[in-house]
Amino acid sequence: MQKPLNFKSSPLSENWWESAVFYQIYPRSFKDSNNDGIGDLGGVIEKLDHLNDGKGGGLGIDAIWFSPFFPSPQADFGYDVSDYCNIDSDYGTLEDFDQLVEESHRRGIKIVLDLVLNHSSYQHKWFQESRKNKTNSKADWYVWADPKPDGSPPNNWLAVFGGAAWTFEPQRGQYYLHNFLPEQPDLNWYNPAVREALADVVRFWMKRGADGFRLDTANYYAYDRQLRDNPKRPENSELIEDGQEANPLSQYITKYSKDRPENLGFIHFLRKIFDENGAISIGEIGSAEGLESTLKLGTDYVKKGKGLHLAYTFSMFNKNMNTEYLEHVLRVTEESIGDGWPCWSLSNHDCMRMISRFDCFGERDGFQQMMLLLLLSLRGTPIIYYGEEVDMQEYEITKDELRDPQGIRFWPDIKGRDGCRLPFPWDSKLTNQGFNSGTKPWLPAANKLSLDQAKADSGSTFHVLQEMLQIRKKFPALQNGSYQKILLDGDCFVFERKTAGETMLIAANFSTEEQSINLPYKVTKDLTPKAYKRFCTIKNELLTLPAFGYFLGDK
Ligand code: NOJ
Ligand code: CA
Repeated sequence: MQKPLNFKSSPLSENWWESAVFYQIYPRSFKDSNNDGIGDLGGVIEKLDHLNDGKGGGLGIDAIWFSPFFPSPQADFGYDVSDYCNIDSDYGTLEDFDQLVEESHRRGIKIVLDLVLNHSSYQHKWFQESRKNKTNSKADWYVWADPKPDGSPPNNWLAVFGGAAWTFEPQRGQYYLHNFLPEQPDLNWYNPAVREALADVVRFWMKRGADGFRLDTANYYAYDRQLRDNPKRPENSELIEDGQEANPLSQYITKYSKDRPENLGFIHFLRKIFDENGAISIGEIGSAEGLESTLKLGTDYVKKGKGLHLAYTFSMFNKNMNTEYLEHVLRVTEESIGDGWPCWSLSNHDCMRMISRFDCFGERDGFQQMMLLLLLSLRGTPIIYYGEEVDMQEYEITKDELRDPQGIRFWPDIKGRDGCRLPFPWDSKLTNQGFNSGTKPWLPAANKLSLDQAKADSGSTFHVLQEMLQIRKKFPALQNGSYQKILLDGDCFVFERKTAGETMLIAANFSTEEQSINLPYKVTKDLTPKAYKRFCTIKNELLTLPAFGYFLGDK
């Protein structure tokens, strides 16, 4: 085994997942090392230095969350797993994985795998057995129910990707439940044998070096065992914008099909397995319900003793980000999270790229940089989505280029998620922007900006992020400090992060006009990243912020 590289930065706190900065990689789109058009583990290994070279270079992230790379028929690009303990040949081999772990750990990067445990692929051998009849050894491993007397599905539950959440299996004469595609049958978490099999999956990857797990749809494991109909949603009820508009679930409140109280018990079960090896967990707690309930739900899962280390909701995947919205989300989270720890991301592989999504008065570039700076200033673990450092934009996908089952199903009303999953643009001078060496990539390599160009521009998002990550490492208050709102004045928002020995003040101007505000005290040091060229001025207590100005000061 090779020795760790020896860059000395301030160590992460004891709970490393609280102070770490995460970076999400969508492996299919990161880097294609064997030129077959599909990103792979070899490609990630090649590019680790971009993320953190272990010697103080690269972006400086601490942990990677990998979207799934396990064997899969790719009906939902890996969120349909047909073998939980192997690597899909599209992405490499178990040996590649071992090398990825070794090379990441050597650089001080932790590895977080995406576990899709609510459902498997229909091609998983468990389902192939289960579907045969009512008496086989896996008969109760999925959620089966008889048709209604008229032959229709057992209840009114709808699938996120369209149509009924039930598909009839003629061999067995019953319907099976799938909250997503018919190719993604829901596992029956009430069966202890299923839970044990999934626990063994967790143990397999912990033994192979995983430091943690992102839990896909972690609030879907439990369902109402009486299979009661979901109630109709009252008209005009508030729905959260989550970047996946027109969610068909919105016709009904998902009262009986997800977010069941007993789901927390299943999370507890998993937590015990994670604790066997000190692995951490990040739950995806998605909800289409109103903002208040989504925030409450997300915080419920991370209170100590409740289960997850971290959980994120879709609260920041909105369009109209402004000071009031942000302050509200932070306040409600603080009020309800108790002894849990928040987790924030502004985008992921399921929602529109933030630079295209946020309505920011036509000046998207500055707004995206300011939002990233804020993300890294909040109390809570930040997750950066791959490509944010090169301002990756939402791509206008055409019908011929569609890959995502959601887009295929709902075209043209919903164009799906391909637009936020383009190949990473490594180098503008190379074919396919350096994603590979010529084979047509699975989605077009079409981002406006490439990394070589971002590196050449001292004010690019790459440099802003890199500098901010270095600053964050130096100041424990930014990592672990408490949060306190100081001022909300129209388009300006000011808050503090504080530890016993340190108070940092953060201010942001969400408007396209210059704004001046009076701070409650004199700030002695301006620590704002120099790469962020929207310079603020400070004179005694008066802080002047340009359009989309961001200020970081030490009291
Ligand atoms: C959430 C994942 O992030 C998404 O990509 C996937 O389609 C669904 N869960 C189903 O697994
Ligand atoms: Ca490849």
